[in-house]
Amino acid sequence: MGELLSGKVIIVTGAGQGIGQAMACEFARNGAVVYANDVREGLIESWVQEINSRETGEIRPLIFDITDETAGKAAVMRVKKECGQIDGLVNNAGVEFNELIGMISADNMKKMFSVNVFGTINMLQLVSRVMSRQKSGGSIVNIASMVALRGNRGQLVYSATKGAVVSLTKSAAKELAEKNIRVNAIAPGITNTAMMRQADPEKIQNRINNICMGRLAEPEDIAKACVFMLSDLSGYVSGQILAVDGCTIM
Ligand SMILES: NC(=O)c1ccc[n+]([C@@H]2O[C@H](COP(=O)([O-])OP(=O)(O)OC[C@H]3O[C@@H](n4cnc5c(N)ncnc54)[C@H](O)[C@@H]3O)[C@@H](O)[C@H]2O)c1
Repeated sequence: MGELLSGKVIIVTGAGQGIGQAMACEFARNGAVVYANDVREGLIESWVQEINSRETGEIRPLIFDITDETAGKAAVMRVKKECGQIDGLVNNAGVEFNELIGMISADNMKKMFSVNVFGTINMLQLVSRVMSRQKSGGSIVNIASMVALRGNRGQLVYSATKGAVVSLTKSAAKELAEKNIRVNAIAPGITNTAMMRQADPEKIQNRINNICMGRLAEPEDIAKACVFMLSDLSGYVSGQILAVDGCTIM
């Protein structure tokens, strides 16, 4: 299909591994200049050179904590200074602790809300300020989860943070449309990341039995849906939550 993101400058958070890494690679494959963020040093640096030698786009590491307003501002200013524009933001960084209601820890609750909700809002605010000064506007994609829409045992807090991501996506889309900024969310189903491969195979098989397409999502499945949301192909799509879950029954 060619390079759908050629000439676009995109920031993706939490890109050190998993879904975020697959996104950074897929965006570079589609010709974008990608600023790959992570809070952990060394992750992106361990694979970025190989991708940059192969793909037409370019990935540049951008290490900072998305919950740190000052660091976020400096990072966004760096991108603006180097490229003159920011066309896309993917709020992918997230943390997940699974705890039954009686076991919910205040520390883990704060961490999840801090990264998944406040960090997302922080980045959305910083980047939309830059985009709103561009005639071309921009596209913001927030990574939610199907548990935001369905709920799940042991995921009360995590699902609540992702529910917040769904709501803030819809409100941001309404407020930013006049600035030509589109805001959408992608809600992945259970995805085949390193964390998943450590889980009990029987439990994973039970989850797969509920997926009509008969397999887990691969990180690339989520990344490709995100390319659509960032590209001009979705130019009239905003305020939407796109499920990428292989048609899961429950
Ligand atoms: N894996 C799944 O099954 C699944 C399903 C639905 C939704 N999601 C969502 O997709 C996103 C990516 O998931 P994943 O499985 O690839 O996760 P992951 O844990 O493999 O990767 C998340 C990355 O975010 C980074 N990160 C964490 N806090 C950060 C911060 N404060 N600032 C910057 N970076 C930070 C981590 O260092 C890590 O590299 C998350 O938002 C997750 O909630 C995942």
